[in-house]
Amino acid sequence: TFVVTDNCILCKYTDCVEVCPVDCFYEGPNFLVINPDECIDCALCEPECPANAIFSEDELPAGQEEFLALNEELSGVWTNITEKKDPLPDYEKWDGVEGKIQYLER
Ligand code: SF4
Ligand code: F3S
Repeated sequence: TFVVTDNCILCKYTDCVEVCPVDCFYEGPNFLVINPDECIDCALCEPECPANAIFSEDELPAGQEEFLALNEELSGVWTNITEKKDPLPDYEKWDGVEGKIQYLER
């Protein structure tokens, strides 16, 4: 599966959702996740993310490992999203800030 990681939080560009052939992205207040049971590993979303927040589970950067379980958990409760929308208001300010998981809203 592919995994959405920390740098999506508070940015949420949503470019990723448009290319997914199986529509397996789910949206929370300030973050998006991939349902690992639905993702077919096509890799189309990875290069679409302006924040470089999407990785294969086999290539998760050091420190991002917890996002695998988080994607699984939150995709079970959040709402499916298939169409691009505006990023969050302060996306430019937050893009690249480390450790945004502390601001994750569920
Ligand atoms: Fe969707 Fe493919 Fe990305 Fe999986 S790898 S979330 S199937 S676009
Ligand atoms: Fe997040 Fe990147 Fe998609 S910032 S919403 S994973 S395009």
